[in-house]
Amino acid sequence: MKPVILVTRKLPDAVEERLRRDYDPILNPDDVLYSSDEIIELSRGAGAILPCHTERFTAEVIARLPDSVRAIANFSVGYDHVDTAAAGERGLIVTNTPEVLSDATAELTMMLMLGAARRASEGERLVRTREWKDWSPSFMVGTQVTGKRLGILGFGRVGRVVAERARGFDMEIHYNDVKRMPTELEKGAIYHKTPGELMPHCDFLTLHCVSSPETTKLLNADLISLLPDGAVVVNASRGVVIDDDALIAALKSGKLTAAGLDVYNGEPDIHPGYRQLSNVFLMPHIGSATKETRVAMGFRALDNLDAIFAGEEPRDRVA
Ligand code: DGY
Repeated sequence: MKPVILVTRKLPDAVEERLRRDYDPILNPDDVLYSSDEIIELSRGAGAILPCHTERFTAEVIARLPDSVRAIANFSVGYDHVDTAAAGERGLIVTNTPEVLSDATAELTMMLMLGAARRASEGERLVRTREWKDWSPSFMVGTQVTGKRLGILGFGRVGRVVAERARGFDMEIHYNDVKRMPTELEKGAIYHKTPGELMPHCDFLTLHCVSSPETTKLLNADLISLLPDGAVVVNASRGVVIDDDALIAALKSGKLTAAGLDVYNGEPDIHPGYRQLSNVFLMPHIGSATKETRVAMGFRALDNLDAIFAGEEPRDRVA
């Protein structure tokens, strides 16, 4: 008998085909966003759950999962939606999908950086609403990206691909991470021991750190005050790393020129202050949303499940 897998969201056709070939999947063709109660109910008899970051596995939810469930194989690199300590205590295997989405997320990061710097939201709105009247030397003047200093907070896989792309814009790369990277990974990037030491070197700052208690509201008023006046902030990691009130205040005061955001606290119910600002370029959490990457994420989650059901250690085990 093939193992039963509860798949919480609609996945790409190629991924669902492989699921049907190798497993007995419970699919979600209408892509309904399930409640925790529904997930618990639907997973009765399932050997594993293949969820997205849209489903939360708190300690309470994990305690109520049926005994048949052996693993949570996430369709995401981030796994802050799973209480890994509770999962570990219960003996549940948890996996994620690293690496395969680094290129797509780095592309989106570059788009946020360019969109924020070159006032993409304002420009698009002017064209669409027919408010665009003429050209003038002072019309829609933005900030140049080329040759500027880029600070990368979190120099993991995504951060390093962002550095690679930014080098194409002749940017000088600075970074902070918990420890200094080997020279071959730094590729000339300049290390700063603390986020505070990094800030003064950032004409542009992009956040690529994982969500954890240590990184919650990491970019707060104190850190923002250390950025050069007129800096641009970009976030395609998790909303929790930003103190929204502090960022909004800095965007209003002119301390920061602009921000490009793809992720938010409480998304999709984002801080209303962002919607009122013209100097923010806002995307709806689409960092990994390319056809190629979504298939690769699904296959990576399935590789992990294959290993688990073959009694092997999955490649991307996080609990
Ligand atoms: C990830 O993989 O963590 C993306 O944010 C989508 O969930």
